[in-house]
Amino acid sequence: METIIMDGKGLAKKMQDQMKEQVAALTAEGKTPGLCVILVGEDKASQVYVRNKEKQSEAMGMNSRVVRLAADISEADLLAEVEKQNQDDSMHGILVQLPLPKHIDEQKVLRAIRYEKDVDGFHPMNVGNFFLGNESALPCTPYGIMKILEEYNIALEGKKALVIGRSNIVGKPMSIMLLNENATVTIAHSRTKNLKELAKEADILVAAIGRGHFVTADFIKEGAVVIDVGMNRSAEGKLIGDVDTAGAMGIASHITPVPGGVGPMTITMLLQQTIDKAK
Ligand code: GUN
Repeated sequence: METIIMDGKGLAKKMQDQMKEQVAALTAEGKTPGLCVILVGEDKASQVYVRNKEKQSEAMGMNSRVVRLAADISEADLLAEVEKQNQDDSMHGILVQLPLPKHIDEQKVLRAIRYEKDVDGFHPMNVGNFFLGNESALPCTPYGIMKILEEYNIALEGKKALVIGRSNIVGKPMSIMLLNENATVTIAHSRTKNLKELAKEADILVAAIGRGHFVTADFIKEGAVVIDVGMNRSAEGKLIGDVDTAGAMGIASHITPVPGGVGPMTITMLLQQTIDKAK
């Protein structure tokens, strides 16, 4: 079977070209979409992610603000900073980059963002509305994955989907989005027994484990659609996914590459949700 590589980077570019026009139209009305990213500490991966968000929102013509704070900032001072951004009408979206340093209560900080400005979909109000099927901001990574599946006309109704990973950022919301499209969803995690057997039955396999090349060819059903959410470093320092992509070639019907698959779509959905808020 020939495996189709799903081009998340290309789709992201196509969507961003359309979004640039939306930003220009809003700017003409004096409503340039503004995104504020708050980064606490020196985490290397977070610094790269935040820099990318900054660059891409600027390239889009958006009003981009990055607030960089010391790793030892107190929780009270961080909450005060969030409140300052809540009050700033030029900032339509606020994102606090995770993870936060251990001495800070992450949930408390996420709750402090005005839920109307939450562009990650992490505020409990948005999580609840999403769960209930009401309008809400959505977690950007699974939202971007749904756009990729749509772009490639992947039918989900009645399909067996296995999501490996149960994080609040990816695994749990991904499962609900697939469920909403009438897939039959199983959520697997580190304590799951017979993971390989479960994976072998999946028509749609989403790998969000955070372990390089964890999913090998023998996990994949012939003709399955494989989504790789992993961003890991190999021993040689190369960026690799959770799936052994080379091994999956010829078995999967479709696969997302790393890099160039899910990653570019995550930022795109963040920017889209910020633009939507400005509207
Ligand atoms: N850290 C890793 N992924 C994300 C994300 O999607 N949003 C935020 N705020 N932090 C993250």
